[in-house]
Amino acid sequence: MQTKINVNGTAHDVNVEPRLTLVDCLRHELGLTGTHVGCEHGVCGACTVIVDGKPARSCLMLAVQADGSRIETVESLADGEVLSPLQAAFRRHHALQCGFCTPGMLMTAHALLSVEPDCDEQRIREALSGNLCRCTGYIGIVEAVLEARAAYQKRGRGSTP
Ligand code: FES
Ligand code: FES
Repeated sequence: MQTKINVNGTAHDVNVEPRLTLVDCLRHELGLTGTHVGCEHGVCGACTVIVDGKPARSCLMLAVQADGSRIETVESLADGEVLSPLQAAFRRHHALQCGFCTPGMLMTAHALLSVEPDCDEQRIREALSGNLCRCTGYIGIVEAVLEARAAYQKRGRGSTP
């Protein structure tokens, strides 16, 4: 089926099988392998992307369901070689080890901070509760998101630092 999706500001017109998941479309049709596939049934959050402003599990969504949508993936965060404030905070706080969960963590946190730049620790933990990390633990991740709030507060609600 012909499907039009806008990914990280670029319009794509892809011809996909109706059964193709959004994450497989991103990775295999568009070559955007930053989005990871873990459990493939909505549990781990590794595949989280932002669809029309809201975090979504791209393993639970078909590519054809995203027709007409605006999608943001982890590739949208950095500016070339320059990490976004959220990514830099992850690095500073050692918020990753193997990095498998990291794209989903980043996109969930990015979606949260974009609309709630003043969120507190409890809200951050609640938002990240659907993202599983098997090796780092959550303290560094939460500290990184807390620190990154300042960059989102500066730019204002709904905009991307
Ligand atoms: S791969 Fe999608 S939630 Fe685990
Ligand atoms: S950094 Fe390894 S699963 Fe989170």
